[in-house]
Amino acid sequence: MIPAAPRPFCDDAKRGEGDHERIIMCGIVGYVGGQSALDVVVAGLKRLEYRGYDSAGVAVLADGGLASTKKAGKLVNLEKALVEQPLPAGTTGIGHTRWATHGGPTDANAHPHLDNAGRVAVVHNGIIENFAGLRAELAERGHDLASETDTEVVAHLLAEAYSSTGDPAEAMRQVCRQLEGAFTLVAVHADEPDVVVGARRNSPLVVGVGEGEAFLASDVAAFIAHTRSAIELGQDQVVELRRESVTVTDFDGQPAEVRKYHVDWDASAAEKGGYDYFMLKEIAEQPKAVADTLLGRIDGSGALHLDEVRIAPSVLREVDKVVVVACGTAYHAGMIAKYAIEHWTRLPCETELASEFRYRDPILDQRTLVIAISQSGETMDTLMALRHAREQGAKVLAICNTNGSTIPRESDAVLYTHAGPEVAVASTKAFLTQLVACYLVALYLGQTRGTKWGDEIRTVVRQLSEVPGQVERVLETMEPVRALARSLAHKNTVLFLGRHVGYPVALEGALKLKELAYMHAEGFAAGELKHGPIALIEDDLPVVVVVPSPRGRSVLHEKIVSNIQEIRARGARTIVIAEEGDEAVVPYADHLIWIPAAPTLLQPLVATVPLQVFACELATARGNEVDQPRNLAKSVTVE
Ligand code: AGP
Repeated sequence: MIPAAPRPFCDDAKRGEGDHERIIMCGIVGYVGGQSALDVVVAGLKRLEYRGYDSAGVAVLADGGLASTKKAGKLVNLEKALVEQPLPAGTTGIGHTRWATHGGPTDANAHPHLDNAGRVAVVHNGIIENFAGLRAELAERGHDLASETDTEVVAHLLAEAYSSTGDPAEAMRQVCRQLEGAFTLVAVHADEPDVVVGARRNSPLVVGVGEGEAFLASDVAAFIAHTRSAIELGQDQVVELRRESVTVTDFDGQPAEVRKYHVDWDASAAEKGGYDYFMLKEIAEQPKAVADTLLGRIDGSGALHLDEVRIAPSVLREVDKVVVVACGTAYHAGMIAKYAIEHWTRLPCETELASEFRYRDPILDQRTLVIAISQSGETMDTLMALRHAREQGAKVLAICNTNGSTIPRESDAVLYTHAGPEVAVASTKAFLTQLVACYLVALYLGQTRGTKWGDEIRTVVRQLSEVPGQVERVLETMEPVRALARSLAHKNTVLFLGRHVGYPVALEGALKLKELAYMHAEGFAAGELKHGPIALIEDDLPVVVVVPSPRGRSVLHEKIVSNIQEIRARGARTIVIAEEGDEAVVPYADHLIWIPAAPTLLQPLVATVPLQVFACELATARGNEVDQPRNLAKSVTVE
């Protein structure tokens, strides 16, 4: 029996100020021209559905008015609704597919959002940080807001601004000057049937210029069926689209320089951002995914704010054991979480394979905190594990990347990662954001229980805020790793070694190679070599070794350098991932992969990236289908 909808851990847990949604990635389309706006916009949304599929909606200008339909769920739900209740024909319109990370995937939260008179429609990608104050001011001025989203305030503000300016572009500029945060907006006004206006801060927005028509979209995939002439909008710019003109200014109305270019991707490549595979795109998105997962959870002083984790501090202080349950890559994240949780909170922490967990009759009670990690939020093994835990009285916190999925719905609380949709079966950006979420939970537990002082937490938080840049640097140096992978495509086995948090990284590297290159790959705790696995070492056997920082737990470093010597002495081809400047490993490394210096516990965030690239490149060299490897599914919804 599925338990009732989860309640906060205690009745005094208060919902945040209007559960505003953080849409890190979603699909936006705007059109003005001679074609059916509905046909162009819906076709464009189909091309962008990989960017989000929690809900979808459209708005069309026709007969002097504005008509809109929006539905929770995949785009097909919207298409059905449009067949059941067609919108009037019009040649100007906007549309949106949503990837919600805050604010459930409901019809009310779906975009477009309208003003009370139904004359303005707006779609949005981003986070309006000052929406609560704007919302209160609008309410005081008599506006009636129907949703809990931050986006809706824009529709009402645009209506006010237009009534005083009579110019949709100037109205957009006025509103943008009031907003804080990240926002990409596209809007229409019923009084201006041949105009679409847009604004860009942070999330991408591109213009397509056709013959007597123009397009706006989150990426070119939405309109390259119609035109390959594009204009990339820059930061803090407003664009006014008409059939025969595109006018771009800054937020103050000054003409802005823009970059025009010809799109030479095909539609499929455009969905992948020009990459050959979604996996490559998602590897490249990791800096942003990590930054987005940190966004809004760390204040200017470096203090943590995890209000969305509706766990009363009094309950957390009673917790006497933590159990992490997960599968596959998420399990490897959980293994790393164990080190952080025990180090920062001094709470015992076990990490369990979800598929094994409930069959071993685990010891659980109301003082146990179970953390269920899942990208999809639908993995049956993990779901069954958390159900068992709740039946035993434990509290369950989900760490999940998919808003409104089953695992967070059946947990007592959830901390969402903000990786955006992960399309490739092999998990990459979800893994790094799971690690970030685990670190945040561990720090939050320490902060709440008083085992970590503010200055200590601020130090780690500062270190975490440096990770996106460090991952970016790693991604810029991956060509030698790709060349090495190609040179090993004929090999049958690769081993992976690590110590401490490097051991789960070794397991993750092995899993990536198994699931992508279909080859034997095995990860070991390096200290285990002498207890058997060293018998596997033979001439030219590739062995990847993840070396901990020489600056932290130096005893770990010394021991793993000895391990490298041991395997090299027996003929292994040593592939060493080490911190820049770690001279001790150089004499024993056949191949060296340098990574930026990072604190011991955070090193997996940078050490894993070369292993992802290595596995993807080796699989490509073998001619494998990287995004959908054989026998695998993105979400394993069976036990
Ligand atoms: C990892 O690359 C795999 N796709 C797989 O191990 C995955 O991590 C596992 O099935 C768990 O999925 P979840 O995170 O959606 O629960």
